[in-house]
Amino acid sequence: MSVKEYDMIAIGSGSAAAVLEGWLEDHLQSRGAIIDKDAPGGICLTRGCIPSKMLTSVADVVRTIERSREFGVSVSGLEVDFSKVMDRVHRHIDPEIRGIENGLSHSPHLDYYHSAVEFVGPYTLRSSTGVTMRSKRILLGLGSEPTIPPVPGLRESGPLTSDTVFALRKRPGSLAILGGGYIAAEFAHFFSAMGTQVTIVGRNPRFLPREDPEISAVVTRGLGRQVRFRLGRQPDRVAASTAGRKVLHLIPTSQEPAESLEVDEILVATGRGPTTGVLHPERAGIRTDSQGWIVVNEYLETGQPGIWALGDATGTFRFKHKANHDAKILYEALESGRRVAVDYHAVPHAVFTDPEVASVGLTESEAIGRFGAEAVLVGRYEYKNTAKGQAIDVEEGLVKVLVRSPGLEIVGAHIVGPLASVLLQEIVNLLYTPERSARPIVDGMHIHPALNEVVERAFLNLVPARTQAEGPPSD
Ligand SMILES: Cc1cc2nc3c(=O)[nH]c(=O)nc-3n(C[C@H](O)[C@H](O)[C@H](O)COP(=O)(O)OP(=O)(O)OC[C@H]3O[C@@H](n4cnc5c(N)ncnc54)[C@H](O)[C@@H]3O)c2cc1C
Ligand SMILES: NC(=O)c1ccc[n+]([C@@H]2O[C@H](COP(=O)([O-])OP(=O)(O)OC[C@H]3O[C@@H](n4cnc5c(N)ncnc54)[C@H](OP(=O)(O)O)[C@@H]3O)[C@@H](O)[C@H]2O)c1
Repeated sequence: MSVKEYDMIAIGSGSAAAVLEGWLEDHLQSRGAIIDKDAPGGICLTRGCIPSKMLTSVADVVRTIERSREFGVSVSGLEVDFSKVMDRVHRHIDPEIRGIENGLSHSPHLDYYHSAVEFVGPYTLRSSTGVTMRSKRILLGLGSEPTIPPVPGLRESGPLTSDTVFALRKRPGSLAILGGGYIAAEFAHFFSAMGTQVTIVGRNPRFLPREDPEISAVVTRGLGRQVRFRLGRQPDRVAASTAGRKVLHLIPTSQEPAESLEVDEILVATGRGPTTGVLHPERAGIRTDSQGWIVVNEYLETGQPGIWALGDATGTFRFKHKANHDAKILYEALESGRRVAVDYHAVPHAVFTDPEVASVGLTESEAIGRFGAEAVLVGRYEYKNTAKGQAIDVEEGLVKVLVRSPGLEIVGAHIVGPLASVLLQEIVNLLYTPERSARPIVDGMHIHPALNEVVERAFLNLVPARTQAEGPPSD
């Protein structure tokens, strides 16, 4: 059996490939391999962040036009051409994917395998096309994949997932989305703006349950004007209707009777799981946790020397910016020959729904739990109480910040409203300074009249946690 020897192998054509390509540029005599069973470029480009944000951006346009009357601007005849909306996504990402494929296929320094790969022993892999390869340096950037809960009839009904939804060309008239997290929030925004009747079925009584509850409440109210929520409910089974539609039966709650929804399509958005079932890392002595995520230490090292895991594959903070951070850390470590630790002390995220959400650090109850109520100050400010918030007529938009007292160390920040992701970044950047202090926001000038004034004023209105006049406990 012939075995191909490589100086480095990357499994996954997103962040792992980026590390390998950077390393090869500095080691031109070395040879690498990039393996991916799916389209090259990684999930973010091929079926994640980028195509989904191209869709939510169209939804933002539609909602802006719909609101134009409030500003004295009448627009008549708004029409959405769903297939054109979907084509636009592919016009953007397909050439990028082809460009990456072309670059990988013609690189003089590496071999690109468009196939699945599995470990057959320590440091030894075999592709589904029968190529055996070996390397003392292997990067596991395996990503993650949609999970489908074991609801009778669900899989058989052919539900959409975030992997398949981008292939749609015909707008579903009605859609049930299972799950109350990121994907549910973003696709509910998109499909409802396209004219689809959307129902979100979330087993958690709270929508976006990982957000600070005040933020979840604002989103639930805002998005609730466009979609129907059935929260605190579990799907029981799925059946086909005589009209060829899908009937989703929900488990009755103690207060309410059994209920069923008849819809054109079901989108499953109940989280993502590991892809290690394909790779079999156990054959290479690489540990996974009880769910199948690769176990790594703070240097992204697996138990096997020379084998690292990064990005979604480690199961923590499954965001592209975190995968990029991991890639940077590994590249630095490989270049310098010394171990470099990851820094996840302030991993931000945003949910591109309507209204937009962005958050970093602890929620109010987490901050109180960690430091004690007497040591936490909370600042809140509503968009509508600033000039720009009024200019753009934001009904509900909130910046909520948490700092430690005494001092002004930022421990959490939560924003809901227009440009939340952009506004949050000012705070995130301070979390990457040694003091993590809000002092520059409190002391610095903020452009008037811009939305950043909402952030400034949240920090200028700090009061002891949970004693504010307006507030019941928030979580
Ligand atoms: C719909 C959606 C929207 C998202 N939006 C955002 C967002 O707005 N912002 C954000 O930060 N994040 C977002 N994410 C998350 C983001 O896409 C991921 O965190 C990121 O792509 C992970 O990158 P990675 O480098 O870990 O894996 P990738 O390189 O992206 O993926 C791993 C690749 O490895 C392949 N692979 C795995 N096992 C094997 C094997 N054994 N053999 C061969 N190939 C294999 C997989 O098929 C996959 O193509 C979104 C995700 C989804 C699904
Ligand atoms: N903007 C972004 O950065 C972005 C956008 C999209 C995706 N992503 C990434 O992709 C990941 C996956 O997104 P996601 O929305 O699918 O997952 P998610 O955010 O983890 O939310 C999953 C939801 O599904 C529910 N759920 C889980 N198992 C269930 C079951 N068996 N039956 C019914 N409901 C169930 C969960 O309820 P409970 O609360 O009860 O557990 C939760 O509400 C995200 O975690 C994120 O890492 C990021």
